Amino acid sequence: MIYKNIAGIKVPSVGTGTWEMGGRNTPDYSKDSHWVNIIQKAISLGMGHIDTAEIYGGGHAEELTGLAIRDFRRNDLFITSKVWHTNLKKSDVLRAAERSLSRLGTGYFDLYLIHFPNPSVPVEETIEAMNFLADQKLTRLIGVSNFEKPLLKKAIRASSYPIAANQIEYGLLSRNKGVYTQNAENEIIPYCRENNISIIAWRPLGKDNFGKLASNPFILSLSKKYQKTPAQIALNWVVSNDNVLTIPKTGSFEHLFDNALSTDFELSKTDRDILNKTFTQ
Ligand SMILES: NC(=O)c1ccc[n+]([C@@H]2O[C@H](COP(=O)([O-])OP(=O)(O)OC[C@H]3O[C@@H](n4cnc5c(N)ncnc54)[C@H](OP(=O)(O)O)[C@@H]3O)[C@@H](O)[C@H]2O)c1
Repeated sequence: MIYKNIAGIKVPSVGTGTWEMGGRNTPDYSKDSHWVNIIQKAISLGMGHIDTAEIYGGGHAEELTGLAIRDFRRNDLFITSKVWHTNLKKSDVLRAAERSLSRLGTGYFDLYLIHFPNPSVPVEETIEAMNFLADQKLTRLIGVSNFEKPLLKKAIRASSYPIAANQIEYGLLSRNKGVYTQNAENEIIPYCRENNISIIAWRPLGKDNFGKLASNPFILSLSKKYQKTPAQIALNWVVSNDNVLTIPKTGSFEHLFDNALSTDFELSKTDRDILNKTFTQ
């Protein structure tokens, strides 16, 4: 596994997403042991960079993460959670963080993110709350998600702590046309690189559109050439960008193994160039 730096902390470049583990917006307890096993296996395979959020499964994804991490040394893990956009007033952020930490059963986040912008709450107010959490050592790092450049600039200006990361949609199928952000590759990623902000790419496999990658003739030819699956080619491409890490989600042990072994090879520059010409969105 290749590690990258997020504000000086060493983090696996390929981690684990938890969206739809334990429900969508409300809890689903029916597959708890499966999800706990998946998260634990991900950690054992070197993907102990776990991404969750208070909204996932109505909090249950955090509870599952909490159950999964109990058996590991906390220092070896990098746990991210996010405050939902309806909780961005200062007092709401503080209460949301407290609830998330309690569900996770840990005393601190490694990274706490503003999940989505909310134009009705000044970003300065939310950043003040995030700074307070950092002051109190309830989070090691703070960051944002789904922020485009103008708002990111405001957040940087308002914060006494570095904005360590911006989590945005990014992958071969969404280079500059994400659902919530435009110009990831042309504008947001270069701006973040200049400002020492890591990018954490969500939906690196395109989720339900993964078939478009898996059936693409050029990806299939690379799969044969490197002896890697289409998912491994796609993840490798994502993290071949300097300041980009990623957090694919899977419910399959086989896919988990794939994802864990997606950084132990290097796509040639020519192959990356052809991929870039093949997937232009
Ligand atoms: N900040 C935000 O606003 C935001 C938004 C969305 C997501 N996220 C985060 O990003 C994470 C990842 O995004 P995502 O879950 O939407 O999309 P994703 O990781 O691109 O795609 C997940 C899908 O890919 C499949 N998959 C995973 N590994 C595979 C492999 N090796 N081979 C074949 N298929 C594979 C999974 O199916 P199987 O289960 O069958 O493997 C699953 O259906 C989320 O879980 C969440 O933590 C953040």
